Amino acid sequence: MHPDYEISADRSRLDLDAIHTYLSRSYWSPGIPRETVERAAAHSLCFGLYHRDAQVGFARVVTDRATFGYLADVYVLEAHRGQGLAKALVRSVLAHPDLQGLRRFLLATRDAHGLYRPFGFQPPAKPESLLEIRLDAPYGLASSPAAPK
Ligand SMILES: CC(C)(COP(=O)(O)OP(=O)(O)OC[C@H]1O[C@@H](n2cnc3c(N)ncnc32)[C@H](O)[C@@H]1OP(=O)(O)O)[C@@H](O)C(=O)NCCC(=O)NCCS
Repeated sequence: MHPDYEISADRSRLDLDAIHTYLSRSYWSPGIPRETVERAAAHSLCFGLYHRDAQVGFARVVTDRATFGYLADVYVLEAHRGQGLAKALVRSVLAHPDLQGLRRFLLATRDAHGLYRPFGFQPPAKPESLLEIRLDAPYGLASSPAAPK
């Protein structure tokens, strides 16, 4: 990773306006309110990607820090893509001391399977054992077709 970039799990550094701006135009959470982003971040293990201190990417894990984690809201801003930053972000997430030895680590993705596969993420061995409750337009705007989350 170029030295101008940094990944940090320090929640106090998060630029919630920047994160909300991206997530509210993402394919999985269009129209998400800022207050919802703020509450989700407050209760997640968050990872910021910074370019000279400006927030250019994000990932968070919903977790009990013992048995289970759910990786969500992974993005890198368009201008910074294609240089391995998402891979560095996922690597940092998986190396975090509070996320070692989890019994199950889940994520959902529309088309970025190839990003996660090298880290060991596989389609569920028994998809029939996974159930969900899901709202199609939780924030009043429909997600893009086939949006997974
Ligand atoms: C997906 C995303 C985070 C990748 O960011 P990035 O910094 O450009 O990714 P990297 O440079 O680290 O490389 C990603 C790797 O995953 C692969 N990949 C697989 N599916 C991909 C996809 N849908 N988009 C981008 N890369 C993808 C790339 O080919 C690359 O592998 P390679 O180095 O072997 O060629 C970025 O494109 C993004 O924010 N997209 C919009 C939001 C999104 O889809 N987030 C993921 C939700 S699960």
